[in-house]
Amino acid sequence: MKEKIQSLINEAKAKVEAAKELIEINELKVSFLGKAGAITSLLKGMKDVPQEQRPEIGKYVNQARDTISDIISNKMQELEQKALENKMMKEKIDITIDEVDATRGSLHPCTLVINEIVDIFTGLGFTVGNGPEIELDKFNFQLLNIPKDHPSRDMQDTFYAGEDILLRTQTSAVQARTMINTQPPIKIICPGKVYRPDYDATHSPMFQQIEGLVVDKHITLCDLKGLLDLFAKKLFDSNTKTRFRPSFFPFTEPSVEVDVTCSVCHGKGCRICKGTGWIEILGAGVVNPKVLDSCGIDSTKYSGLAFGLGVERIAMIKYGIPDIRILFENDSRFLKSFK
Ligand code: PHE
Repeated sequence: MKEKIQSLINEAKAKVEAAKELIEINELKVSFLGKAGAITSLLKGMKDVPQEQRPEIGKYVNQARDTISDIISNKMQELEQKALENKMMKEKIDITIDEVDATRGSLHPCTLVINEIVDIFTGLGFTVGNGPEIELDKFNFQLLNIPKDHPSRDMQDTFYAGEDILLRTQTSAVQARTMINTQPPIKIICPGKVYRPDYDATHSPMFQQIEGLVVDKHITLCDLKGLLDLFAKKLFDSNTKTRFRPSFFPFTEPSVEVDVTCSVCHGKGCRICKGTGWIEILGAGVVNPKVLDSCGIDSTKYSGLAFGLGVERIAMIKYGIPDIRILFENDSRFLKSFK
């Protein structure tokens, strides 16, 4: 009996060793350890073993079952591991493969400037507003204290499309639209295209502006100065200084023009700032009470500040672009330099 058991163990060892596939092992498991397997039939045969030898032989059979079971499960693990390794080898990504030549675009410098400015103001709690480019005379001029035939219209040459319809000359039109529809507090920034019949190295018939408007209780020129000084420092660098010069706009009173220290020479004087050390970047002022009243906001309760800047002008200053027309030529060599 003992010999029979030993030869069974040897047979199992040899067969398991020779097996190469998981199915073979499963079959061996059934044939040795299964219900109709060799070990089970040995156990069944125990009844024929003489009484006194039974404990010893029984122990022997149990040991044999454990040994064969270990051999089988070790081999199973080994084959499973191999199968996994094979699978991983097959699925391996070849990172040495050449990069596919995908040409990537870049954002236009004006878009970069708009994104940056909108980011600065939304960070200060402003929301973004917009309005139509084909605008009514009412919003572009009349509600902004520029009546028809008033000489101040000459400040902004205009493309008219009819008696009362025009291509907006300023994003200030969005100011009027917003105030007509909303009661304070108002805190908006409005980027958009505007049109004026001008064309030279620093003027284009279409250009982009960003208008800012704040209307609330107790808004003063101090708020305007603080806000625009902070803005200039964020847009250029923290050493930038601002200067406010008296100016005139029909829709603001008082009105100012804002200069920043030249970001190229830092105030010493260079070609960009024409030797003055200062560069004008925007027009601004305290909203004229007449404008608030004509837009339905009580000027005895509320006051406001407004400012407007030219996007192309900022891009030209920031990136040292000498001629505005380069921004509209779409020369890909120029555009690629903004990647
Ligand atoms: N709308 C003015 C312009 O286009 C700029 C401006 C906006 C001035 C808001 C004052 C306040 O020249």
